Amino acid sequence: ESNDQIEKVLESLKISDESLQQIMLLLEDEMNAGLSPAMHKNAVVKMFPTYVRSTPDGSEVGQVLALDLGGTNFRVLLINLLGHAQINLTSKIFVIPQSIMLGEGMNLFRHLADCLLDFMKKENLVRTSVRYPLGFTFSFPCKQEGLASARLTSWTKGFTCAGVVNEDVVKMLQRALDEKNINVQCVALVNDTVGTLMACAYKDPHTAIGLILGTGTNACYMEQLNKVGTWDGDHSEPKQVIINMEWGAFGDNNKLNHIRTKYDEEVDLSSLNPGKQIFEKMISGMYMGEIVRLIMLDLMQQDLLFLGHREGYSGYKAPLFSRGGFYTKFVSTVETDEGIGFSNTRRVLEDIGIRNPTYDDCAIVQHISRHVSKRAARLAGAGMAVLINRINRPNVTVGVDGSLYRYHPRFKRNMEKCMHALVNKHIKFKLALSDDGSGKGAALVASVADRTLRRKP
Ligand code: BG6
Ligand code: GLC
Repeated sequence: ESNDQIEKVLESLKISDESLQQIMLLLEDEMNAGLSPAMHKNAVVKMFPTYVRSTPDGSEVGQVLALDLGGTNFRVLLINLLGHAQINLTSKIFVIPQSIMLGEGMNLFRHLADCLLDFMKKENLVRTSVRYPLGFTFSFPCKQEGLASARLTSWTKGFTCAGVVNEDVVKMLQRALDEKNINVQCVALVNDTVGTLMACAYKDPHTAIGLILGTGTNACYMEQLNKVGTWDGDHSEPKQVIINMEWGAFGDNNKLNHIRTKYDEEVDLSSLNPGKQIFEKMISGMYMGEIVRLIMLDLMQQDLLFLGHREGYSGYKAPLFSRGGFYTKFVSTVETDEGIGFSNTRRVLEDIGIRNPTYDDCAIVQHISRHVSKRAARLAGAGMAVLINRINRPNVTVGVDGSLYRYHPRFKRNMEKCMHALVNKHIKFKLALSDDGSGKGAALVASVADRTLRRKP
């Protein structure tokens, strides 16, 4: 029976609660390795200390600029911190052309500087008498040596600019700003997870975790200094530091092979960074649509899907047949259909080149999508459970951001359901969607850093 054959394919995407518990133990081992001076070098989950030692308390004041690079959109922001937890924010989205994402590194930073200058002109900020502090959300793995010093360890997601790996990206940005005589000083670099944690903590003091489920996936959390063997900063109060986990690299040492499918392997091999970011490739928005597409193609080849289309589809150029042709936002759209009408699914399938999809076509594609997104939600949920149990406070809020979490109709529900099974019963947790993106968090960090810099002689 064809239904059985389809179920067999989808069976490979199921991960039981027991298997998730095993994955949690594995992740905790990887975290401890990343934090240990002896094991850090070979660890895959890097657990970078961020030099952010406390969450905001609402008293932050000042006018701060921010750049937010690495997600779907590049943003320039102006943030007015008014104190008493009051913020006012203006921002503008700029495009980063593909040629710059894959080009020479210094050109990327020159482009960021051009966009910033354009924004500052519009906002009337180009005054030489003021040097504005800037917070830089840079959503890639960096080894930090201070708040304003961060070496890129590798590019992830869609970027591969030459000459940036191992360089200090704050220095490169500052060089580009100075070349153009822009009256701005980059005083802090933060990962998007950290920006999200900070922005959420501003509203909810129980926030101790930042989670991104967008183009990529990653998490950060507040860790006790005595657990951070790799910490080389000072040991003053508060004895804690936010750790940028870079959990997308979980599995890069083959430890997750037992749950990977042939579709995951194919997605990895055709990516810009084969062998890297294995966990991320099973979860995040840059890859989820592609997994669904590969499963659709496989079922089609086995004569289990799109039966009327072996000749009738609109040619091999149809998006269904091209890499990246099925976007993750389609997965969300397909899953918003309830009942038997499938109006959204039908539209999506027509968009990718299936003319007049049948009821069965729609039902099967929705079924595939549900399996793929549920697996992602459960893996992310298991990761969260590790952090929440480790933090072990009575109330823990997770600040979350990213297009996958925001727009997928059941990601949050699936995650929470699995977390309720995996988080220790005495802990109450909450997933809180961040509202202004991580640029706001970067500005909060920058304002504190700027005040500290000014206090020093
Ligand atoms: C937002 C940030 O908070 O979420 C981005 O401001 C970040 O910088 C993003 O990367 C993640 O979402 P996406 O879906 O745009 O990758
Ligand atoms: C990738 C990046 C990481 C970022 C995440 C979410 O995993 O390496 O730094 O936080 O994407 O944007």
